[in-house]
Amino acid sequence: MSTAICPGSFDPVTLGHLNIIRRTSRIFDKVVVLVAYNAAKQRPMFTIEERVEMISRVVARFRNVEVDTYDGLLAEYAKRYKDAIIVKGLRASTDFENEFRMAQINKTINPALETMFLTSSEKYTFLSSSVVRELAGYGADLSEFLPREIIKDVLARAGAGAGGR
Ligand code: PNS
Repeated sequence: MSTAICPGSFDPVTLGHLNIIRRTSRIFDKVVVLVAYNAAKQRPMFTIEERVEMISRVVARFRNVEVDTYDGLLAEYAKRYKDAIIVKGLRASTDFENEFRMAQINKTINPALETMFLTSSEKYTFLSSSVVRELAGYGADLSEFLPREIIKDVLARAGAGAGGR
């Protein structure tokens, strides 16, 4: 059985993430969406547990997608699955260097671990969780950016209408 791991911070999961998850679920037998810690990202909007719960709601529509979390190294987590492959989305060229670095480091730690990239859909090239968090602070319409199941959660957490301040 082929398994893909789609790792990320998902703070919160966006339509860009969901597009990658959906496309990955058509290629692999099983997809694990892994909510992991990114040491570079401080002051998250949602706790890891909240993100797992929100993604679980969103991916309930896919029969072969699961959600998990791990507080260690991604390269170690992947050893739980036989021949699992990491799948990530690549947006603009700005993603490339960081993603290339992570893929190389993961492969150094776990030489059997491959990373594959799906190019983001044009519509989501400039979409990120951080942009969504900022827009949410202004009470913006998020329907073009977020799965409908979590829009209320994000606006509520951002204190919508207060400009995020
Ligand atoms: O959505 P993000 O923040 O770009 O995802 C980055 C993430 C969470 C996948 C990355 O930080 C990660 O793999 N974290 C787990 C800890 C780890 O393995 N760190 C070494 C990365 S080279």
